[in-house]
Amino acid sequence: MRVIIKDNAVDISAWVAGYIAYSIKRAKPTAKKPFVLGLPTGSTPLGVYKELIKLYQNKKVSFEHVVTFNMDEYIGLSPEDKNSYHYFMHENFFNYININPKNIHILDGQTKDYAKECEDYENAIKAYGGIDLMLGGIGTDGHIAFNEPFSSLTSRTRIKTLAPSTIKDNSRFFDNDISKVPTQALTIGIGTIMDAKEVIIMATGENKAEAIHQAIEGNINHLWPVTVLQMHRYGIIACDKAAAKKLAPPTIDYFQNIEKMGG
Ligand code: GLP
Repeated sequence: MRVIIKDNAVDISAWVAGYIAYSIKRAKPTAKKPFVLGLPTGSTPLGVYKELIKLYQNKKVSFEHVVTFNMDEYIGLSPEDKNSYHYFMHENFFNYININPKNIHILDGQTKDYAKECEDYENAIKAYGGIDLMLGGIGTDGHIAFNEPFSSLTSRTRIKTLAPSTIKDNSRFFDNDISKVPTQALTIGIGTIMDAKEVIIMATGENKAEAIHQAIEGNINHLWPVTVLQMHRYGIIACDKAAAKKLAPPTIDYFQNIEKMGG
């Protein structure tokens, strides 16, 4: 596992955006062999999206041959609903870059057939040869996408009931009213995330410190789904100092030193 710690959210967002842009360019994507990017929602990636938009505007990266798969979507919300992840992605990212709308994939939370929607999503990812780079955030309880604590570590795309802690955390987007937060979501699985060729899990702020401690220093356990990243060949945790607050000093020294030495 690679661990990148920067002073603050702005710096780590710039690092992650730079890494994504570099990965896209390195792949030299074409219409026939596009770059496949997995994307999250939440407040954490907002700085990354802003930075990627800047990089696009400055002609440092193009999304012409990039295909995206979002991690999850609430059940029951229409794409026009301001709290849907469809709306979030267009408002904060897709509307400002040169991505072909046909290349955007987001689970349909209004589908009548959840099982088929999830199976089709997995098949669409496979048809592109898998996800090249998956970016994810992390919940305070260690969830990734909407894979809540005790999710199977080999789970695939499916419907998931949200944990009370997630509903409480996410109620800030729903007028702080817990009763307005959907109780279920469609989400890619932990197995789906682990199949990506490379995975970056990003965290900022002190409220993520316990999850980051578990992710890096804890044992692999379905209680903290993010710990599965320890089994990924190319897993990166990217966080700010506040989120790294609960890491033991020798752990921080180890990862900072290895970065200084060139990785
Ligand atoms: C939601 C999303 C996750 C995200 C998490 C943390 O539950 N489904 O993908 O990582 O929120 O969000 P934030 O970045 O706002 O803390």
